[in-house]
Amino acid sequence: MDAATVMERCGVLGGVSEESGILVRPYGSSSMREVNGIVSGWMRDAGMSVRTDAIGNLIGRYEGTGNGTFVLGSHLDTVRDAGKYDGPLGVLAALACIERLRDRGERLPFAVEVVAFADEEGLRFGTTYLGSSHYAGALEKRLLELQDRDGVTLAEAVRAFGGDPESLSGTRSAPEDIVGYCEVHIEQGPVLEERNFPVGFVSAITGLSRLRASFSGRAGHAGTVPMEGRKDALCAAAEFVLEAEAAAKSEPGSVATVGEMSVRPGARNVIPGQVEISVDVRHGDDAIRERLRDHLESKAAKISTSRGCEHRWEADQESVAVSTDPELCALLARAIEDASMEALRLPSGAGHDAAQMAEVCPVAMLFVRCKEGISHNPGESVEEEDVAVTIDVMGRFLGRVAEGRGR
Ligand code: GLV
Ligand code: MN
Ligand code: MN
Repeated sequence: MDAATVMERCGVLGGVSEESGILVRPYGSSSMREVNGIVSGWMRDAGMSVRTDAIGNLIGRYEGTGNGTFVLGSHLDTVRDAGKYDGPLGVLAALACIERLRDRGERLPFAVEVVAFADEEGLRFGTTYLGSSHYAGALEKRLLELQDRDGVTLAEAVRAFGGDPESLSGTRSAPEDIVGYCEVHIEQGPVLEERNFPVGFVSAITGLSRLRASFSGRAGHAGTVPMEGRKDALCAAAEFVLEAEAAAKSEPGSVATVGEMSVRPGARNVIPGQVEISVDVRHGDDAIRERLRDHLESKAAKISTSRGCEHRWEADQESVAVSTDPELCALLARAIEDASMEALRLPSGAGHDAAQMAEVCPVAMLFVRCKEGISHNPGESVEEEDVAVTIDVMGRFLGRVAEGRGR
């Protein structure tokens, strides 16, 4: 019953977008405002008090009988042309756990906060985890100056979203008595499906580097400038893209992706004079990621020079790899086993709000099988039966945490 509700609600939120025909819900947008409104209604109905913090995270609180706050959650923002489960499933599965407690008239020995983070994907400002970094008190002040494509700064966007940029860094909106965090998320990879497991628990979250490179050449006439001697910025960028692919392939376990490219002036009869690209580099081992990142930086310089171009290289964000907490993981594994399944442990190649939450408390994550491991794609698909298992396991997990705290 509650799994069906979670599926239905994922569908409802999946229909709230900035553009018709695709799902895209960036930080601070009117579609984010709309989903926050919808989810806050569901939170109130579940018996929670609701607040919105200074960056726009939506927080529902279900009081307990004693001290301490356990946090559940995930994010409500999306990538461009997204699926409807990456983020919302974690928020709505958490909410379903609270609804079960409410239906049984049950209070845990600690309060539970369900947090719907306002920005995890970083679609608008290029850096991920803005919402959870504020909740955890780790938001860097310099980020407030970041600009979106229209030149709006993060500080301005926060204000327009009803928040308070001045109070964002150096403060946290998480309660002082936080005891742990657990996030439900689709796996976004093929392991659970291949092994035929509905859920598994996460051992570690990858580290990542989000970078930007720009190549400046010389724009010119596509018909009159001979091929020899051109300074084609797009050819430089294209060579770099293939170099990044080759370098990541030769370093086992690493991935490198160029997902954004802007070409200027952008006309079919003009040689590209200026190209800017994003570069996303990941590895579970920070030293290997840093080595690959530095290798790509020197490749960008070499390629640029060999083509008579100039280049710039900027680091937008560096996040270190984060291990989940052994004790919380043991409780989550027990909860999976209590539900008569083997507890499969797997690493995450995706970033998650849990990585920021690890700054303030022990963290754990429960992954849910998704079809063919597809995500960041409208083809994301999750089975209702797996969501039912998820809610069951999370309920058992909270029970085990409660036992551990003397219930
Ligand atoms: C978020 O989905 C990320 O891993 O970039
Ligand atoms: Mn995502
Ligand atoms: Mn996500």
